[in-house]
Amino acid sequence: MTAGKTFDSPELLQLFPTFVWKADLKPEEFGPLNSAILAGLTALGAPLGGLRPGDNWQSDHGLHEQAAFQPLMPWISAAAASALAHLRIANPLMVTSCWANVNGPGTGHRLHSHRNNYLSGAYYVQVQDGADTINFFDPKPQAGVIRPNTEQTTAENAEVAMVRVTTGSLLLFPAWLQHAVDPNRSSRLRISMSFNLMFAGFAESMARPGWTPGLGSTG
Ligand SMILES: [Fe+2]
Repeated sequence: MTAGKTFDSPELLQLFPTFVWKADLKPEEFGPLNSAILAGLTALGAPLGGLRPGDNWQSDHGLHEQAAFQPLMPWISAAAASALAHLRIANPLMVTSCWANVNGPGTGHRLHSHRNNYLSGAYYVQVQDGADTINFFDPKPQAGVIRPNTEQTTAENAEVAMVRVTTGSLLLFPAWLQHAVDPNRSSRLRISMSFNLMFAGFAESMARPGWTPGLGSTG
C-alpha cells in the first residue's frame, strides 16, 4: 500500500438507485379513509374482531373495483403520479390489483416480489409497535457473493433495509423489489392494503420495438 496518500473526498456517483417512495397521510386524511376501508372489509367478512395467533386473512385481489374501496384510489393515483414525475416517465399507470392483508399475532409475509407490474405498494390501515416495519432486500444479486464484516450497518453496506411505517403510511416501490414482513409481535391485528400498478395500454403503446426499420437495429 502507498503510505502518505489520502483519498478523503472522492466524488460519489450514485448509479442505478432503488427507490421506495413513502408518504404519511395526516390524521384528518387517514381517519375517514381508514373508516371507509374498515367498513368495506367488515362487509367482506374480514375477521377484524381478532385472529388467533398464527392466523392470516387476505381478501381477493379485485378490491380496486369495489365501491367501498374507492376512497383509497385517489391516494394511490397521487403517489403514482409523484413517482412517475420523479422518474420523468410520461406513460400513465393504472391499478391492476388491490387486496387487504390482516395479520394476526405471529404472522407476517415471506420474501416475495410482485410480478408483471411496474410499481407495487402498500397502504397501512392499522399498525402499531411490534408490527410497523417492512423489509426490502438488495436487488443486486452479485452483492451477496462477498459480504465482509462491517463496523456498522449503513444504507451503503446493508443487504436488508427496514422501513418503519405508521397508520396512514403509503409506500410505493418497484414491483420487482423483493420484500418481506416480519411476524406481528403486537397483540393487535396488522391491517394493510396492497396494490399493483402497471402501464395502461402496455402492449399497445410500449411493447413494440422503438427503433426505425432500415436505419440499423439490434433486432
Ligand atoms: Fe408484497
